[in-house]
This record gives sequence, structure tokens and C-alpha cells, in this order.
Amino acid sequence: MNGKMRSHYCGALRDSDIGEEVTLCGWVHRRRDHGGVIFLDLRDREGIIQVVFDPDTEKSFALADEVRNEFVLMIEGRVRAREGAAINPKMVTGQVEVLGATLEILNRSDIPPFQLDEYSEAGDDIRLRFRYMDLRRPEMQSNLRLRSKATHYVRNFLDSNGFVDVETPILTKATPEGARDYLVPSRTQPGSFFALPQSPQLFKQLLMMSGMDRYYQIARCFRDEDLRADRQPEFTQIDIETSFMDATEIMSLTESLLKGLFEELLKVELADFPVLTYEEAVRRYGSDKPDLRIPLELVDVGDLLTEVEFKVFSQAANHPDYRVAAMKLPAGDRLSRKNLDDYQKFVSVYGAKGLAYIKINDRNTGYEGLQSPILKFLPETVVESILSRLNAESGDVVFFGADRRKIVNDSLGALRSKLGDDLSMIDEPWAPCWVVDWPMFEQSDNSWQALHHPFTAPKCSAEELLTDPGNAISDAYDVVINGYELGGGSIRNHQYAKQKAVFSVLGMSDNEAEAKFGFLLDALKYGAPPHGGLAIGHDRLIMLMAGVDAIREVIAFPKTQTATCLLTGAPSPADEWQLRELNIRVRNKT
Ligand code: AMO
Ligand code: AMP
Repeated sequence: MNGKMRSHYCGALRDSDIGEEVTLCGWVHRRRDHGGVIFLDLRDREGIIQVVFDPDTEKSFALADEVRNEFVLMIEGRVRAREGAAINPKMVTGQVEVLGATLEILNRSDIPPFQLDEYSEAGDDIRLRFRYMDLRRPEMQSNLRLRSKATHYVRNFLDSNGFVDVETPILTKATPEGARDYLVPSRTQPGSFFALPQSPQLFKQLLMMSGMDRYYQIARCFRDEDLRADRQPEFTQIDIETSFMDATEIMSLTESLLKGLFEELLKVELADFPVLTYEEAVRRYGSDKPDLRIPLELVDVGDLLTEVEFKVFSQAANHPDYRVAAMKLPAGDRLSRKNLDDYQKFVSVYGAKGLAYIKINDRNTGYEGLQSPILKFLPETVVESILSRLNAESGDVVFFGADRRKIVNDSLGALRSKLGDDLSMIDEPWAPCWVVDWPMFEQSDNSWQALHHPFTAPKCSAEELLTDPGNAISDAYDVVINGYELGGGSIRNHQYAKQKAVFSVLGMSDNEAEAKFGFLLDALKYGAPPHGGLAIGHDRLIMLMAGVDAIREVIAFPKTQTATCLLTGAPSPADEWQLRELNIRVRNKT
């Protein structure tokens, strides 16, 4: 390195540097006074090295005595081997230390708001308020560097596959992706607003109509939606669009990108991603983003229950919008009565009215060997058919859900994940998959909503779409890893008639479609090529790769649950003159 102020990084010193005269710059991670000798753990972005000052170097020793945690120092000294018990096998630099000769205090620090070496004690609020301190922690440094490396890999991969990086506007018109827009008032056109993009969706499609052929952008997106551990109001997508490629080609390209990335940065070889249809994912796993690491499945048993006395089951079994599903938990007899009660409470959050179960103590003795609150309502032959459909054995527990389809899927789907976690049923670290053939629309309050976004192409014709929207399947695909929706995309409507048909199913009048998306509809009239693409949630990708459980751990300056930045205090009130200039008057909060 040999900079003017610094010759080596603290964390990079090794055996091979023994004997070297070095100049280090960094922060005091910890200071210990050991009977006349002072040990300073000096930290920089590469790690920590132990520096020793003894009383022989009088002036430096006095300064070393004065320093406190997070002081910034420049130290000159010689690297020497640590001997015997002094070797610290837990530190990568633990074989060596620096015998300090000179010490300069470059800056002092007040007492840190939290201990960097005992960060787990610090609450999220304090970490976010003093984020620059939090980011000094090796874990956070490592997350951000992983992110940087991943971004670099993605750019290289896409560049070498002929993708062109194009920036699209941030001040723009609403791009619907299912969330609320962030609005920015226009000064030059009083009463008008820009929307921040929920994604670059429309511009990337326009770039295909511009003949760009392959576009990408590491794009910032803005969505005013309820926040969770894997959602932030501003986040980053690896955003891709291509012309003249079909869904399978786009999926295969994305899969190569992800496989390459995992190989390069984690030394992990991902197997080929299985492809599930939406229908299959929901039927077998109760989720459109199934965690395939968990070896539990939902099995339909409604056909066996149409005539049983237990009304909860028979009514659901006879209703087309309802479902009766069973899920076998192998060796579930390890669950206590209390566990079972707790799981019943757990599923009630998803709207389930109960969680019937059968505990199989002995599979070979018929009714005798079973334990269940619902046994008395079910004929032995029916129970036998259910158990043999599930290949249930002694020791297993079978859970049941009977309700509206969505309630059964949501509750048993969530129970499946919870059991996987609680009972440590996860062996493999990574289980990616594709979920394809999504319905175009879902019904809510008697109107149709797009399941992806309204620019997704149906697999059927415009006429079929208009006559039977509920059964229209889209040419959309999501990539899912370990139960997280990592990315999603689709083939788009490149023909005017199909795009108009989608708008019309969504209840948009011609005038409204024209006002909101006239520019897109126009562009479809001038030779729009067949095109499609996908966007990967970059933050979620890095969260998974870093093995952390929230995307704020991989975003330098994230926001809180209430979409505020504790560091800067944003959002904050605007000055009166600014508002006047924008022709805005703030209403009193009602
Ligand atoms: P979609 O809305 O599915 O698709 O978004 C793509 C991916 O972005 C990530 N993501 C988020 N990450 C963090 N915080 C959020 N609030 C957030 N919202 C979404 C997810 C998601 O899978 N234009 C389409 C893509 C396309 O069709 O090409 C789109 O935005 O990982
Ligand atoms: P009940 O007759 O309501 O006491 O229910 C008998 C058993 O069936 C209890 O174990 C309930 O948890 C279970 N149960 C009730 N409703 C449902 C339902 N909709 N789906 C699954 N199990 C249920």
C-alpha cells in the first residue's frame, strides 16, 4: 500500500510481515492496561491488530495511556511474532502484534453511544441514529463489501452478455407496482406532482421500443408501503429487460447470473432451479414463494370427506371455494399438548378457525392407535384412506385445515415454515426455485387487480382475457429462494390490443388509460418488439447471501418501520417559504 499516512491495513498483517516497520491508521477498538504495558486493539476496515506500548517509549506510552475507545490514531512500530499463550487463534492477525514506537492522536472521540465490540446490546434505534458508528463494526463492513462485490459481479455478467446500462428518470409519472407513490410537488406547474418510480418498468419497456435490445440498471425504487424486515421504502433492483427472448430464455439467463454470483462470492454451487407452477406451489406448499428446504407438504383430502359428520370438514369439502388439506409431520409425536395448542393459536392469526390433528401412536392398530379430538366424527375407513394417502406412520402427526382456500393455504403454509424452523428441519442451505404461470388477476371488492403489474402479458388472446379474466394465466415468473420472493418478471404486452384489454379488465376507461399510460399505448403503435424482463431485489439478495434477517443490515442508511431516517431526522417539515413557492398549504392533521 505505502500511502503517506499508512503503510499497511491493520487487519492485513500476517506472519510474513514479521520484522517490518509499519505505519498504521485506525480506531481504538479496545484498550487494556496490563501491569505497565498498554495493549491497544487498533481497527480499520480490514480488521484488528494488537499494538503494544511499553514504558520504554515514554512519550508514546503516555499518549497510549490517554487514548480511549474510538480515538483515531496513527501508529508507527515493528511487527513481531506473538509467542506461546500470547497467540490468539480467534483473530486472523492473532499470530502477530505491533510493538508501538510512536503514536499520534489524529482525533478524539466522545464516549461512544454503544460499545462496538458488544453491539448486540445496542437496540436498533441507537444503531440507526449513530449509523456511522454502527457501520464501523466488522459485520456491517463485511455486509457492505459483499454488496459492492455482488453489484460488481452483476454488472460484469450483464455487460459481458450484451446488456447496456441505462439510467431512467427518478422524477417521473406513477409506475404502478402495487404500492403507494411518493410524490414530489412541481414548482413550475403548481398543483402538479412527479411520482418517484416504484420501478423503472415503463422506461425499460420504452427502451425496448427504442431498439436497445438488452437493458439493465442497478435501479433505486421507491414504494410507500407497510414496511417489514424485507421491505424498505427505497430499495434497489437489478433491473433487466430484453427484446426477442422468451420466458425460458430470460429465466435461464437469470439463473446463470445467480449461480455465478453464488459460486464467485460464497463458493456455493446452486443446483438447477426447479420450476413450479403457481397452482402447484400453492397446492403443495400453501405459498406462492415456497421454502423448498422444508420437507413438509399440503395434501388435498377434501374428496375423502364430502360425507363425514364433522361439518367443518364436509362443508368445506363440498364448496368449490373451500379446501380441506392435510399436512403430515413425520415424528410429530415429539410435540406436547401445549405445542399443539400453541400451533392452533399460531394459525388463528391467518384466519384459521382451528387446527385439527391426528396423532398416530400406533399405525397398526386402527382407531386404537390414534389420538385426536375429531376421531369421533370420522369413520374408520375415511381415516384409513387419509393416512394411507399421506403414507403416515407410527409417531407421525397429521394436521388439517378446512376453510376458504386462501385461509387454508396461508395458515398451513405458515405452519409449514414455522414447523421447519421450530423443529430444525432445514438441512440444505439453499433452495431456489421458479414459480411460473401466475394468474393474471385476483379479485378484490368485486374488481380485478393485477397479480404482477398491468404490463404483464397473458398467455391467452385479448378476446379470451376479456371474456374470462379470472382464468387467464400470465407469462410471468418469480424467482424464490428459501421462502423469499427474490425477483419477479414477465413477458410484456407488446401489442396495443392486449395492453388495452388488460387495462379494460382492470376497470380503466379509455380516458383514464390514455391519461395515465397514453405514452406507452402510443409507443405500442410504432413497432414495439416482443419483450420481457425481470427485476431482482438487490437488498434481499445480499441479505440472503450475508445470512442476515433484515435488509436494513445490508443497506448503509436504511429507514425505520415508520419510514423515517433516525440519523438525519428525515422526513422533516418544510420551511414556510418553500411551501409557498410550491403552492402548497399543509392541512392541520385531522
Ligand atoms: P416486483 O414488484 O416484484 O417487480 O419487484 C421486484 C423485486 O424487488 C424486490 N422488492 C423490494 N425489496 C425491498 N423493499 C421493497 N419495498 C421491495 N419491493 C420489491 C423484491 C421483488 O421480487 N417491474 C417489476 C419487475 C419486472 O416485471 O421486470 C417489479 O418491480 O425482491
Ligand atoms: P370443534 O368441534 O370446533 O371443537 O373442533 C374440533 C377440532 O377441529 C379442534 O381440534 C379444532 O381445532 C379443529 N377445527 C375446527 N375448525 C377447523 C378448521 N376450520 N380447520 C381445521 N381444524 C378445525
